[in-house]
Amino acid sequence: MKVLITGAKGQLGQDLQKVFADEEVAAYDLDLDITDLSPLLKKFESFKPDTIIHAAAYTDVDGCEKNQDTAFEVNALGTANVAIAANYVDAQMLYVSTDYIFDGESDKPRTEFDNVNPQSVYGKSKLAGEKAVSSLTNKFYIARTAWLYGHGGANFVKTILRAAKEKGKLKVVDDQRGSPTFSLDLAEKIKEIVKSGQYGTYHVTNSGECSWFDFAKKIVELGGINAQITPCSTKEYPRPAKRPAFSVLRNYNLELRGFKPMRSWQDALESYFEGSQ
Ligand SMILES: NC(=O)c1ccc[n+]([C@@H]2O[C@H](COP(=O)([O-])OP(=O)(O)OC[C@H]3O[C@@H](n4cnc5c(N)ncnc54)[C@H](OP(=O)(O)O)[C@@H]3O)[C@@H](O)[C@H]2O)c1
Repeated sequence: MKVLITGAKGQLGQDLQKVFADEEVAAYDLDLDITDLSPLLKKFESFKPDTIIHAAAYTDVDGCEKNQDTAFEVNALGTANVAIAANYVDAQMLYVSTDYIFDGESDKPRTEFDNVNPQSVYGKSKLAGEKAVSSLTNKFYIARTAWLYGHGGANFVKTILRAAKEKGKLKVVDDQRGSPTFSLDLAEKIKEIVKSGQYGTYHVTNSGECSWFDFAKKIVELGGINAQITPCSTKEYPRPAKRPAFSVLRNYNLELRGFKPMRSWQDALESYFEGSQ
């Protein structure tokens, strides 16, 4: 395979490079700005990838509320540019999307066949990216993930560990539920998906579900930190962007197509702490 990765310096991008190390890879981040089509076309034409994994995004969910233009420029138009360039060189493309394209109002895990209804600028811009990919390319995969953490980026695990060490006492939201997902596990499943040739939309999260409070308790336990974690409500911790209350995804397309299930979020988190590669 000849694989071109965008968002290479992000937490998923770094794990994608580890997982695809046995393939011929070209990896770019801000050195190949996806909002500018012409350099993309040139780079794609010279490398001639057969597979594009598009992980670059403006991922600051609250920042997207303040900087709506940037959110749509990067996540919607930037993704459209990557799709145009993928089509230009006849490469298959995988776009990484998010649980935030759902409203989180249902108490059942959402499948790939459920209706979308994003509530935040970030969610709307990522959904616009999905539409661009599906309308501008023929050979595409969309991998929606959630609550991502990895060794290579800023994330909830690192924030909780730092705050627990510094303060010894934390309040964490207990009325939002989701499926924490290790970026290395996601990268490995992405590799299986792009090698399958089975195009379409996939939910890809570690299995099981929890609240941010449950997640924080497990992080502190595995981190060996003696800190007091108490639950609080979303109302007590207001944020600029509305978060889905029930954000659990069912990996239904992986099930239907016979892919190996993703391991539990607890097992994945243990591996993260063991520094497993
Ligand atoms: N993090 C999560 O919880 C989560 C959940 C669901 C889905 N996702 C999706 O999963 C994917 C990977 O997420 P992640 O957490 O690995 O994100 P990340 O760590 O923020 O990495 C994204 C990378 O893209 C780069 N980038 C931003 N604008 C760009 C541009 N115009 N051109 C080229 N590169 C650009 C970023 O650079 P800068 O950092 O310098 O801006 C960053 O290195 C994203 O598509 C995201 O939407 C993430």
